[in-house]
Amino acid sequence: MIVVTGATGNVGRPLTRALAEAGEQVTAVSRHAAAVPDGVRHVTADLAEPAGLEPALAGAKALFLLLSGDLHAAGASPADIIGAARAGGVRRVVLLSTQGVATRPFGETRIAMRALEDVLRESGLEWAILRPGGFASNALWWAESIRTQRVVAAPFGDVGVPIIDPADIAEVAAACLLDDRHTGGVYELTGPEVITPRGQAEAIAAALGSPVRFHDLTRDEAKAAMARSMPAELAEDTLTILGSPNPAELRVSPDVRRVLGRAPRPFADWAARNIAAFR
Ligand SMILES: NC(=O)c1ccc[n+]([C@@H]2O[C@H](COP(=O)([O-])OP(=O)(O)OC[C@H]3O[C@@H](n4cnc5c(N)ncnc54)[C@H](OP(=O)(O)O)[C@@H]3O)[C@@H](O)[C@H]2O)c1
Repeated sequence: MIVVTGATGNVGRPLTRALAEAGEQVTAVSRHAAAVPDGVRHVTADLAEPAGLEPALAGAKALFLLLSGDLHAAGASPADIIGAARAGGVRRVVLLSTQGVATRPFGETRIAMRALEDVLRESGLEWAILRPGGFASNALWWAESIRTQRVVAAPFGDVGVPIIDPADIAEVAAACLLDDRHTGGVYELTGPEVITPRGQAEAIAAALGSPVRFHDLTRDEAKAAMARSMPAELAEDTLTILGSPNPAELRVSPDVRRVLGRAPRPFADWAARNIAAFR
């Protein structure tokens, strides 16, 4: 049995489906009850309380571990989750980390994620680490304004990075969970090309068959908008990455092709599959 945390999110949902379709027994974990594919067991648990994961982890052979940023910020000890996994009999953990651990190693959440990577490496378990860059699904931030006004309001409209389709992350995760050859692998996951926010808006417009206007926000306007849903310091950090990606963050990684034997999917593919959110 394989346990998937974050099972109802952008990565976890396609991963759960892929593992079930591969004939694996899957336990899907999230805090809220949710529909899961036929044959998949759903367990409600909060990763902030690793002891509560015991019913999900008992008898599991492998774990896909996805932590939201607030777990680090809250000062929880995600390392306890790895301890709970080992106690439950888990032999392999695939950790969803972040590209920033390598490309921008300073900052509270990236330091915490690096520490968790190190705990996993030293755990005695089999492991693989996925380090994705920015997700295509971040475009869902614009869903409401596109639906209601056909507008994307964003800063740095002409500054792009090679964003990754979460479905590709899920496919790489499935490979790492199922195939021994990925044990000890550290994979940097990006999309196939650098794409700007303006380019993303154009791809969504093409999939909609309707024009979408791009409204440039200043850095201060963007910070004020972001600070409504995240700490000001995190907004500042995120804006620095979005506005001034460094050479390592602009690089198209070969790792999706290395694992899956095919190129990563372009943003237009994600937009077409998720267009219902923008109609
Ligand atoms: N977005 C990016 O550009 C980016 C880039 C690099 C790395 N990442 C990493 O990717 C991860 C986010 O992946 P995603 O987009 O697939 O996530 P997502 O769509 O936001 O979904 C989060 C999932 O985790 C569950 N969850 C959240 N908090 C939980 C908790 N305390 N206990 C148990 N389950 C919890 C959610 O369900 P419930 O709410 O029901 O619990 C949901 O299933 C984060 O670790 C982030 O650091 C993101």
